[in-house]
Amino acid sequence: ENNELKKIIAHAKEYGFVYPSSEIYDGLQAVYDYGAYGSELKKNLKDLWWQTMTKLNQNVVGIDAAIFMHPLTWKASGHVDSFTDPLIDNKDSNKRYRADVLVEDKAAEYENAGDKERADALLKKLGQLLEAEELEAVRELIIEEEIACPISGTTNWTEVRQFNLMFDTQVGAVAEDSSKIYLRPETAQGIFVNFLNVQKTARQKIPFGIAQIGKAFRNEIVARQFIFRMREFEQMEMQFFVRPGEEMKWYEHWKETRLKWHKAIGLPAEDLRFHDHEKLAHYANAATDIEYKFPFGFKEVEGIHSRTDFDLTQHQELSKKKLQYFDTEINKNYIPYVVETSIGADRLFLMVLSNSFTEEEVQDGEKVKTRTYLKLHPAIAPVKAAVFPLIKKNGLPEKAKEIFDDLRYDFNMIYEENQAIGKRYVRQDLIGTPFCIAVDFQTLEDNTVTVRHRDTTEQLRMPISDLRAYIGKEVSF
Ligand code: GAP
Repeated sequence: ENNELKKIIAHAKEYGFVYPSSEIYDGLQAVYDYGAYGSELKKNLKDLWWQTMTKLNQNVVGIDAAIFMHPLTWKASGHVDSFTDPLIDNKDSNKRYRADVLVEDKAAEYENAGDKERADALLKKLGQLLEAEELEAVRELIIEEEIACPISGTTNWTEVRQFNLMFDTQVGAVAEDSSKIYLRPETAQGIFVNFLNVQKTARQKIPFGIAQIGKAFRNEIVARQFIFRMREFEQMEMQFFVRPGEEMKWYEHWKETRLKWHKAIGLPAEDLRFHDHEKLAHYANAATDIEYKFPFGFKEVEGIHSRTDFDLTQHQELSKKKLQYFDTEINKNYIPYVVETSIGADRLFLMVLSNSFTEEEVQDGEKVKTRTYLKLHPAIAPVKAAVFPLIKKNGLPEKAKEIFDDLRYDFNMIYEENQAIGKRYVRQDLIGTPFCIAVDFQTLEDNTVTVRHRDTTEQLRMPISDLRAYIGKEVSF
C-alpha cells in the first residue's frame, strides 16, 4: 500500500471511521467495521443516494429485498456458471492469486515505466485469452512475462482454474433436509424478480426505476486496498426499465446524471472519468465505469450498464412466469430493457474519505506544522457542529449546553468542555466537523457566539438565534 493510502487507513482507525473486523482476533481479511463517525458518514452517503434516486425522480421507487433468494435466481442470472475469477497458486509459497490481476499488475508496471504500448498489448492479449477461456495460455503468459510470486519470488505456478465468487450456506434445520443457497453477490437480482410486483403495486409506467441499498457478498481472492475490495459490502443499485430500442438514450442519461451527482457531493471533475468497456459482460450491450483517482490510481467506483432484456428473459424462462409489460401507449407487450446504475457504498465512502483527507502546512509562531483535517461537504459530514464553552466555569458550560440542547435534535452535534479550546478545534477538524460554536464571556452579555469554519479556521460572530438557520442552510445541498 502506498503512503497516502496508509495515512488514510491509519486516520480512519484512529478517529473512529473504519476498523478491521474482529480486530481483537487479528481481524478478518477484507471485512471491516464502521465506527462512530464512519457509520454516520456512510449513512449520510446512503441517505443522499436514496433521496436523489427516489425523491428527485418521480418514477424511481425503492425496494428492500432479502439477501437470500431462491437458488434458481443465480442459475438464471448466470452467476452459478460464470461468476468466476481465474485463480493460480504459487507452489513454493502456497499463496493463491488472481491470474488476471497478476498480469494487470505487470501491465501497470510497464505503463509506469513509460511503455504504454507494451502494457496495452499485454492487456489485450489477456482479454483475448480470458474470453476464449484459454486458461493454460494465461498460465504460459504469466511464466513468459516472468511474473514472480511476491512472497516466494519464484515463478513456479500451478494451472489456472475458474473459482466461483459466491458464498453459499445451507437452509433447513437438519443437514439431510437442507439445501444450498447463496449469499447474494449483487442486489440487482432482488429487483429483477420483483419487477412486476413493484410495477403493479407502485402503479408505475415504463420508463421507471427501482432502487435498493443492501449487502452483497463476494469471495474476493485479491483483498487489498482497504475497503476498496471487500468480501461483505453494500451496494446501491438502481434498475431502470425502458422500452426496447430506447436503452441507449437512457444509458446516456444515467451516465451524465450519475457523474453530476459525484461532482455535487464535492469530488473534483479532474479526479473523475468515464471508462467505457470494450469487452462487455454477457448481459450488456453497453457499459461504462465512473472512475475516481484513488491514491492507488484511477479505479472504478460505479458501473452504468445497459443490461438489455437478459435478466428478465432468463427469469421468465426459469420461473415459467411471464415477466412482460403491456405498454398502453404503443399497444404492445414486451420484456423491458434495463439500464442499471450500480455503486458500492463502501467504495463511495473510500472515495469521499480520500478526497477529503487534507494536510496543509501552517505557520505556528516560528515553526511550520501540518494541519490535518477532513474537507467533507457539510451535508455528508458525520458531525455538523460542536459546541464548546471557552472555559469550564463562570456559567459558560450551562450556556453552551443550552445551545447544544436546542440544536441537537436538528443536527448531529457534539458538546465538549474538556481540554484547551485549541485542542478541541483540532479534534473536530480530524473528523471533518464543519462548524465549531464557542461560548465566551461576551455570549453572556449579548447572546452572540463565534462560529469557526473548519476549512478556513476563520471565526464569525453571530446571534445564537441565527444558528439553526445558518447551519441548516450550510448542511443542505
Ligand atoms: N449489478 C451490477 C454489479 O454488481 P459490479 O461492477 O460487479 O456490477 C458494482 O459492482 C459496484 O459494486 C462496483 O462499481 C463497486 O463500487 C461495488 N463493488 C463490487 N465489488 C465490490 C467489493 N468486493 N467490495 C466493495 N465494493 C464492491
